[in-house]
Amino acid sequence: PTISIISVPFGYGAGRPGSEQGPDSILKFGLVKKLEQLGYDVDAGRRIQLPSSLTPYPTTRMKHVDQVMAVCSQLAREAASAASAGSIPLMLGGDHSIAMGSLAGLSRHYPNMGVIWVDAHSDLNTEITSPSGNMHGIPLAAALGLTQLKLTQILPGAVQLKPENCVIIGARDLDRDEKTLIRSRGITCFTMYEIDRLGIEHVVQEALRIAGTGTDGLHVSFDIDSVDPFEAPGTGTPVRGGLSYREAHLAMELMSESGLITSADMVEVNPSLDRNNQTSKLAVELLGSLFGSRIL
Ligand code: ARG
Ligand code: MN
Ligand code: MN
Ligand code: MN
Repeated sequence: PTISIISVPFGYGAGRPGSEQGPDSILKFGLVKKLEQLGYDVDAGRRIQLPSSLTPYPTTRMKHVDQVMAVCSQLAREAASAASAGSIPLMLGGDHSIAMGSLAGLSRHYPNMGVIWVDAHSDLNTEITSPSGNMHGIPLAAALGLTQLKLTQILPGAVQLKPENCVIIGARDLDRDEKTLIRSRGITCFTMYEIDRLGIEHVVQEALRIAGTGTDGLHVSFDIDSVDPFEAPGTGTPVRGGLSYREAHLAMELMSESGLITSADMVEVNPSLDRNNQTSKLAVELLGSLFGSRIL
């Protein structure tokens, strides 16, 4: 099988700079070699650039909407072309706003896709409810069709995600309106409370069942801030009480063993906030586990 790595060095969706350095840092710490050792053909040459001229989008209180839309449109085309060519698209962010591009593109090839959103946050704000105006706080809401911004504005023919095919894992910092939305739309959200009570294995198996049955593809959108800041300090919106190193690996191993994963994002790695490149190295290791690396 082939993995197409799509680098998205874009950080304007976050409140602080640095995540645009994520892709180069993850690549520098050996991602391609690791995936090749696991037996994949790796196509690592795809890189999204911010175009020099931008189509202006209706101004809202959200920050850098035009830039986010331009990057997401390009990314959507790359992701769609990689998926159509039969390879596994792997998007390296960048901040989490880029997931709107991933999902828009992938949805053309997998119109009934499931998504597992591993994150300390739920990224379910809208242009109305966002407390920060940061675009990385809205991508899941956008994918579900709950924002003014629609996936079809990113890529014509893109298909919205269905709430019953979407599962959040690792949440521990939700804004008030995000909580309301999770309840009213019936989105499955395994917070850290459920992980503590049920264990990560049970939670991931449930997530795979919910997002992986009746769907035609399964995307993992992994925000590195899902992992405890003790292990992953290099990220813009750290929240304590996160996934342990072992829980994060086991989650990836179980998703890998399911054989259902057709694409992934690794986002919010911010090398300028990191300690000894610990977070970039962790991202490489976790992607190894997601794509088949085993201890024995
Ligand atoms: N909920 C907060 C907001 O809307 C934080 C979002 C953090 N998102 C992320 N992808 N790290 O601004
Ligand atoms: Mn996120
Ligand atoms: Mn997050
Ligand atoms: Mn389902």
